[in-house]
Amino acid sequence: MPEADLLSIRPTLMTSAKPAPILKSSHLLGIEGISAPEVVALLDLAETYATLNRGAEKKTALLKGRTLINLFFEASTRTQSSFELAGKRMGADVLNMSVKTSSVSKGETLIDTAATLHAMRPDILVVRHQDSGAAELLSRKLDCSVVNAGDGQHEHPTQALLDALTIRRHRGSFENLTVAICGDIAHSRVARSNIRLLSMMGAQVRLVAPRTLLPCDVERFGVKVFTDMKAGLAGCDIVMMLRLQLERMTGALVPSAREYFRFYGLDREKLSYAKPGALVMHPGPMNRGVEIASDIADDVDVSLISEQVEMGVAIRMAVLDALSRGMT
Ligand code: NCD
Repeated sequence: MPEADLLSIRPTLMTSAKPAPILKSSHLLGIEGISAPEVVALLDLAETYATLNRGAEKKTALLKGRTLINLFFEASTRTQSSFELAGKRMGADVLNMSVKTSSVSKGETLIDTAATLHAMRPDILVVRHQDSGAAELLSRKLDCSVVNAGDGQHEHPTQALLDALTIRRHRGSFENLTVAICGDIAHSRVARSNIRLLSMMGAQVRLVAPRTLLPCDVERFGVKVFTDMKAGLAGCDIVMMLRLQLERMTGALVPSAREYFRFYGLDREKLSYAKPGALVMHPGPMNRGVEIASDIADDVDVSLISEQVEMGVAIRMAVLDALSRGMT
């Protein structure tokens, strides 16, 4: 990026004048509850952070003096590390609470753990929990900003935002775009947040999965549903693949990984039914040879997977920036 462009971005990131608010709420709990103009403002702000992150000097001082606590009750690679990096790049003190080594493993409740952390006076608590509604519960009990980094099968708003940012960078807008979300929809908070966000922004969303991996109330989403990959992918612009979330399954919902790949795994043959030039996404972690073939995942001409990770840091910086605007 030319030096002159960077100079025009830096002052907006480092200005001392109070910038305009972006989010009405002091929390980010889900895509449900935020509006299309709020999404657009977050994506625009994230673009400036994406540019900053590609430069040599990646720091701003916007969150200097602020404390961010990452409280993760479930495994995470991308989400936790990108919130950590986002906080650090913006000058915050970042504490990663590893639940496995905390008192939670000794039986402490979510509320007691959160109350303990709260006594340390964080400004932002980023929480991932296996129960739907956990982030919302904490937002009602604590007086810091709460960001939902995934609650059960409910929502994962920053994942949907980073997916939208990645799509917008390649396709310009969401109008006239068909996005097929494929795989374990039933257990996926990523799917639920993406359905909400992409539909709100004007994209046509389709779900493609075997019956056993569709939520029983799937018609509630108001999107087209396919049980056949070729029919579901026909003519679509974006193919978003999801992992089989075995940890959330109570019984065997697919015959075997091999069988699943044969009917629902994305390979060249199935992808050939999508529009020419269709792009492939995956939130990670990927199970190669189960829901996606390696040669597609690694094909830089069709796969946006590593750009999704890059945009994850930019989106989380934008979210932290937006939340900090409402802080006293
Ligand atoms: C997703 C999650 O945790 O919901 N991962 C992520 O945040 N990138 C999807 C998954 O675990 O399959």
